[in-house]
Amino acid sequence: MIVKNITSPNGSIAVSFGFKDNGIPYYFISHKGIAVITPSSFGFQFKNQPEMKKEFSLISSEIFTHQENWEMPWGEQRMVHSHYNELQLHLQETSELKRKLNITFRVFDDGLGFRFTFPKENNTAQLIIVDELTEFKIADDHNCCWQPGDWDSYEHLYDQTKFSEIDAIARRDHPNLLSSVIPENAVNTPITMKTAQGLYLSFHEAAIYDYPGMTLRIHPEDLKMSSALVASHLNNWKAKVSLPFDTPWRTIQIAERAGDLIESNLILNLNEPNKLGDTSYFKPMKYIGIWWEMHIGKSTWDIEGSQDMSTFIDGEKKASEHGATTENALRYIDFAAQHGIKGLLVEGWNTGWDQWINTNDREGVFDFMTPYPDYDFDKVMDYAKEKGVEMMMHHETSAAPRTYEKQMDVAYDFMKKHGMNQVKTGYVGAMIPEGEYHHGQWMVKHYQHVLNEAAKKKIAVNAHEPIKDSGKRRTYPNAISREGLRGQEFNAWAHDGGNPPDHLPKIAFTRMLGGPIDFTPGVFNIKFNEYKTSNQVNTTLAHQLALYVVIYSPIQMVCDLPEHYMKDGEIHPAFQFIKDVGVDWEASKVLDGEIGNFVVIARQERDTKNWFVGCITDENSRELTIDFGFLTEQKVYTAIIYKDAEDAHWDDNPEAYTIEKITVDSNTSVAIKVASGGGFAISLLAP
Ligand code: NOJ
Ligand code: CA
Repeated sequence: MIVKNITSPNGSIAVSFGFKDNGIPYYFISHKGIAVITPSSFGFQFKNQPEMKKEFSLISSEIFTHQENWEMPWGEQRMVHSHYNELQLHLQETSELKRKLNITFRVFDDGLGFRFTFPKENNTAQLIIVDELTEFKIADDHNCCWQPGDWDSYEHLYDQTKFSEIDAIARRDHPNLLSSVIPENAVNTPITMKTAQGLYLSFHEAAIYDYPGMTLRIHPEDLKMSSALVASHLNNWKAKVSLPFDTPWRTIQIAERAGDLIESNLILNLNEPNKLGDTSYFKPMKYIGIWWEMHIGKSTWDIEGSQDMSTFIDGEKKASEHGATTENALRYIDFAAQHGIKGLLVEGWNTGWDQWINTNDREGVFDFMTPYPDYDFDKVMDYAKEKGVEMMMHHETSAAPRTYEKQMDVAYDFMKKHGMNQVKTGYVGAMIPEGEYHHGQWMVKHYQHVLNEAAKKKIAVNAHEPIKDSGKRRTYPNAISREGLRGQEFNAWAHDGGNPPDHLPKIAFTRMLGGPIDFTPGVFNIKFNEYKTSNQVNTTLAHQLALYVVIYSPIQMVCDLPEHYMKDGEIHPAFQFIKDVGVDWEASKVLDGEIGNFVVIARQERDTKNWFVGCITDENSRELTIDFGFLTEQKVYTAIIYKDAEDAHWDDNPEAYTIEKITVDSNTSVAIKVASGGGFAISLLAP
């Protein structure tokens, strides 16, 4: 029996709520009359109480509508429009316990979110949740782009299969991950689907603060997913919450065009407005780093010259020189200053790396204050200041968050004393204490604690090995970027050959729907055979350029070694694109794309009003026609097109590219060929 309906503002999405026999609450969703979610129920299991999933009745309900425009301090666009209809349902059990539960649906034109609220009851201040029983029944055996539901990591490749063929268990075997737990056939979110009618759906969550991350358990025969919260093995429950309590929003994006998934602001709009006020201490920027050299094995994090990435992956010592030396840092600063790159990240500057991941006891290893003796911290800071380069801090916690919590206060003061406004955090390895996981409630709270403490000191955070992005940057704009995917680093050392050419054309329609990605693009020396012959980047150089536009982040690394950006004593001609490309956008438009195949995105820079276009493709070469209709009418732009050479190929000839200069206006369209694993990047300089 349906008791309430609500539609999106334009009427295209309809949500119905009702009760089955025995007071079991359920909901279903349609888009333009076609079923998206078929009747699905929900409920909760508790530690010291009977489960809650039936014998409910509706006490009252309200409908609201909300419309606003809000401004992003930095982002994919400056102004965001939010418009939704909201249905609030107040339920109560008719059985003896008479417990209350509220459910709220917020329905936008591009999807919806719903969440549960446990109101404050007189007799309980706290609930201990054993699991959440939210169901999502889909209407057909859709094509899915998914990765396994891992409690510790999102650093997996995505698979594209029918829903009924999802098999996360078969993906347990991955030699490249230092921590990973895939307990059942479940997927991480976002999981993105395409229906036979050509509709796109993506399932994720918004505003995770004090609750475990949600994986989605796959029930292939029933075409059903159900919430499987990440656990802690130190407890036999998954979440302990104080009342009143709101769960995160369970989100479903619905789009008629693949690109609309990327343009959607649903996840952000389900988060609360900015709570930090002015965060202008953070400025979007490009940065270089003493970083890639440790990943490819040119140098090491520790001073003994024994810990590069091969040490961790193969237990084999390769490089023998410390990367973070004063001299090397000055060299990077010179490069940044000369070529217009604003920031520098130095990893391996502080003591502790010698006993990093190879020891079992990682508590107390790092102090985030003591430089290695060959790194003259003050000298580097002074030189950077003189050259106008902003230094970025690195805090690798080695998944020992209790140590980090003890030290972060002084560590952040130390940063601020030296004028540092940004920290890259890291949580490599299995969590200490054993039994906690990166995506469980305990760590979710830790990651938020870091944001809170950093915000107090005016510090912006770029977290690696993070909790998934759930759009909290709207509320906490110091959450600037994060990893949470198989980054560029895998190309340096992964045993499976690194990220295949279709990796990022999948990421754009899955992981990127959550928010900014510190992917670290920009490899020019694609094969780096001088250091390693068994690994390479599996894209062309033009594809690497395009990533500055395609993969959104307000901080973008220019990740290759300074010497790899030089050609015959001069800066590489294609570096001009990296110099020119924006990092902070007025507007973003997805011109074309298909999940896992290719994507073309245009973004307009806030300050200059210049436009940039990026296109990446999978292993298939293709010809794409770019319609410049997004440009302001009547204006003529100079377009510099950086594209794959005729004979370019990600494996056979990855560095072959050409640069072409033409003039275009809003009536122009241009056909461009992209190579296998290739792409193109265009800068459109405003008149
Ligand atoms: C993993 C991070 O993703 C990477 O960027 C970093 O270099 C290493 N951990 C060391 O902290
Ligand atoms: Ca990582």
